[in-house]
Amino acid sequence: MQKILVARPIFPDVIERLKQYFEVDWNNGDVLSAEELTRRLADKDGALTAGDPVGAAVLAAAPRLRVVSNMAVGYNNFDIAAFNAANVLGTNTPDVLNESTADFGWALMMAAARRVAESEHWLRAGQWQKWAYDAFLGSDVYGSTLGVIGMGRIGQALARRARGFNMQVIYHNRSRVAPEIEAELNAQYVSKAELLKRADHVVLVLPYTRDNHHTIGAAELAQMKPTATLTNIARGGIVDDAALVDALRAGQIAAAGLDVYEGEPNLNPALLTVPNIVLTPHIASATEATRRAMANLAADNLIAALGEGPNAGRPANPVNPEVLGKARA
Ligand code: GLV
Repeated sequence: MQKILVARPIFPDVIERLKQYFEVDWNNGDVLSAEELTRRLADKDGALTAGDPVGAAVLAAAPRLRVVSNMAVGYNNFDIAAFNAANVLGTNTPDVLNESTADFGWALMMAAARRVAESEHWLRAGQWQKWAYDAFLGSDVYGSTLGVIGMGRIGQALARRARGFNMQVIYHNRSRVAPEIEAELNAQYVSKAELLKRADHVVLVLPYTRDNHHTIGAAELAQMKPTATLTNIARGGIVDDAALVDALRAGQIAAAGLDVYEGEPNLNPALLTVPNIVLTPHIASATEATRRAMANLAADNLIAALGEGPNAGRPANPVNPEVLGKARA
């Protein structure tokens, strides 16, 4: 039997499925340190990760490793150049999380716009004495302009929901999406600068790469409307969190919603001191059904990539398909 490492706690029935094909070393505890991950991968043929960094050093210490299956759509934790150099396949879990993640983008955006978390904290703190005409005035969502940065599958799911809110949708992306998708979403492609200037609610849904580190920093925040909100359901590092704190404090924008952070789970402590921000712990895809679908898809990808099961040799979601069929280097 081939050997695999499941690097994180995961649904036990998915572990049972994997045991039908593999000898499973399961870390059902704390996140593994780089040293521990490297040690436990040394004799493994495959691994199932969820955001654990895998780069050249880890691969070099794991000469049998042929596939790493990430239980996430984002795979910025993989050093793809190192994967390609070693002929190691990476896989991810796209599509199954689109709708749950888009729902959550709306939840954060609306909570930020209407000051849901901020007012709840105030109420819980026993500060509510009377109804007041000017208490927690927010920004309207219905009829406003939604600016989506990153118009991939999740960005499109998010934009599709804007129809019911009678919103104008503008977007920015590496490239324009197909005209029929623009027509279906009633979405207009604009430059990043125009989007920041026009949008009432900016939502970030783009993958994290070196090129888009701090896509939203001090200069970009300064271009936004003082009544606008910023929501990040993509990855930490796309927003300069320190610059966001400054912009919120200075009233450069009205509010923000963050599900992801630079250096998470150790977020910038200044974020906790700003009232007009909604903070959630990287849970945009976290519904029971979606997390189960992601775990099962990650398992399916691993099983297929290691030549087992009904789709042996044909994993559904390779992120570097160029290495398929190549011997481990
Ligand atoms: C979650 O952040 C994912 O990339 O799936």
